[in-house]
Amino acid sequence: MTAIPETPDRRAALTHEIAARTGLGEDVIESFLRAFYGAARQDPLLGPAFVGVEDWERHIATLTRFWGSVALMTGGYHGQPMRAHTTLALTPTHFARWLDLFERTAREHLSPEGAEHMLERARRIARSLEMGLIPLALPAAKRPMASGVHP
Ligand code: HEM
Repeated sequence: MTAIPETPDRRAALTHEIAARTGLGEDVIESFLRAFYGAARQDPLLGPAFVGVEDWERHIATLTRFWGSVALMTGGYHGQPMRAHTTLALTPTHFARWLDLFERTAREHLSPEGAEHMLERARRIARSLEMGLIPLALPAAKRPMASGVHP
């Protein structure tokens, strides 16, 4: 099978098609993100994780590029999301709350198609971040050092 070449024209056509189908665009995504992070900063569980963010305009700009790449195929983001979260000591509860808040904000601010489009991607990325960042909780008996049998 021949790979379809990824050209700027093809990217632009895809972005256009997604925007027409979902009502999403970079401006819509940016104002959604402002609402989402406004709420996340107020959230008792998530808020403390964001106190270290020194420049919120920069964070919103990075996240707008990230979601533009993920949801609109704009290709403008080149960062490393996994690395950005390694020192935050996130737990499965953080991820569940993040997704819950993301869903509520998306349903309030986006069209139904736009919300589904963003949510499908958010769930997938959250799962892979969670799996990469949090070691699997094994039952005590199966933890390597738990039985007193040392290698
Ligand atoms: C589970 C709760 C989460 C918390 C508390 C959290 C918090 C943070 C914080 C504190 C930063 C660093 C911001 C800065 O220093 O400027 C960050 C960066 C980022 N987060 Fe999250 N995050 C969470 C989940 C997620 C999820 C699920 C996604 C994607 C679906 C995501 C996407 C990103 C991206 C793209 C960046 C920027 C990385 C870069 O610098 O290139 N985060 N997050």
